[in-house]
Amino acid sequence: MDLYEYQARDMFEKHGVPVLPGIVAETPAEARAAAEQLGGVVVVKAQVKVGGRGKAGGVKVAKTPDEAEAHAAAILGMDIKGHTVHRVMIAAGASIAEEFYFSVLLDRAERRYLAMCSVEGGMEIEQLAVERPDALARVAVDPIVGIDEAKAYEIVDAARFPAQLRDQVAGVIQKLWTVYAEEDATLVEVNPLVRTEDGSIVALDGKVTLDANADFRHPDHEALEDKAAADPLEAKAKGLGLNYVKLDGSVGIIGNGAGLVMSTLDVVAYAGESFGGQKPANFLDIGGGASAAVMANGLDVILNDPQVKSVFVNVFGGITSCIEVANGIVGALATLGDEASKPLVVRLDGNAVEEGRAILAAADHPLVTIVETMDGAAAKAAELAAAAA
Ligand SMILES: Nc1ncnc2c1ncn2[C@@H]1O[C@H](COP(=O)(O)OP(=O)(O)O)[C@@H](O)[C@H]1O
Ligand SMILES: [Mg+2]
Repeated sequence: MDLYEYQARDMFEKHGVPVLPGIVAETPAEARAAAEQLGGVVVVKAQVKVGGRGKAGGVKVAKTPDEAEAHAAAILGMDIKGHTVHRVMIAAGASIAEEFYFSVLLDRAERRYLAMCSVEGGMEIEQLAVERPDALARVAVDPIVGIDEAKAYEIVDAARFPAQLRDQVAGVIQKLWTVYAEEDATLVEVNPLVRTEDGSIVALDGKVTLDANADFRHPDHEALEDKAAADPLEAKAKGLGLNYVKLDGSVGIIGNGAGLVMSTLDVVAYAGESFGGQKPANFLDIGGGASAAVMANGLDVILNDPQVKSVFVNVFGGITSCIEVANGIVGALATLGDEASKPLVVRLDGNAVEEGRAILAAADHPLVTIVETMDGAAAKAAELAAAAA
């Protein structure tokens, strides 16, 4: 999950990273009140989860509360790279002397973390990396050790900070590491990290990505989720404890095991080419259990997707036998009743496959077609989706 800048700011503050005061506002009047409260020069900043807000006109300096109100009126509702601005942050204005860059992120390929740092911040880092790669220090971080004092100085020196800033910047970098480690982030980026005219080092813009796999360790992270912006079907699936990702196609997919579901997406996309480009509508892994209740929940989510025209249930019976899976499907259709209104193509294989297919055949549900092979079932599901489109 990516955080908004104001959420990152709060998180930085909690871990002792120097930040400036900031107040979130949803209306121009709130923006004015926030500017009055902060006093002095403020900056009105669009809160959208995308970079380059400054260039897009989403970051504006205001010298008075009147100006803050006017800027907020212009920025609220603005579209920045496809993201509508619903909130602004009114931040205290900094007198910037210099802008730097710092980030630490997960380096999957190298199985460790990577810190990046530059004394040339402010501009977009992708551009800096391409145009002036020498100016961007890249320092590997051992996950066991993290960024201790020695590593922080290594980063500061690799980025060629002047001697008089070394201690201060190394201190801030260690605090940013605390955010990364203690909050289970996969990215902490500060661009710009600034030196102000009065000599402090401050994080002026923050981007934080949290690792959802560590959510169980952070009950407080749930409150950071933007429920309004989340896809309603994904939110529903999450509430039901399902591994569901909404996609754009017309063939709903249910399978057990992430690997099987991923190959099912490929097979459906391939088969769909022969039927006017039908594509998978979602990823849904119901896991090993595949009980009637889980199957019903999965079908319930998928059938509520108006883009879905047919559903492909692809289950391989392992520890859970095809008998249980077939009973699960029959039970789920009974539970859903009239809500189950789209054709289902079922492919079962593995443990007790004959018995499982026999159960489905005996139930003889008008919406269910049993196909023995994965390729055949994918083609059938794509054909049914095309016919219903
Ligand atoms: N609180 C602030 N005070 C003064 N200048 C700021 C402040 N926040 C941002 N800026 C200026 O605006 C630029 C863009 O803001 P930033 O928060 O980095 O947004 P983005 O990266 O999305 O463009 C910064 O590089 C900085 O020069
Ligand atoms: Mg920035």
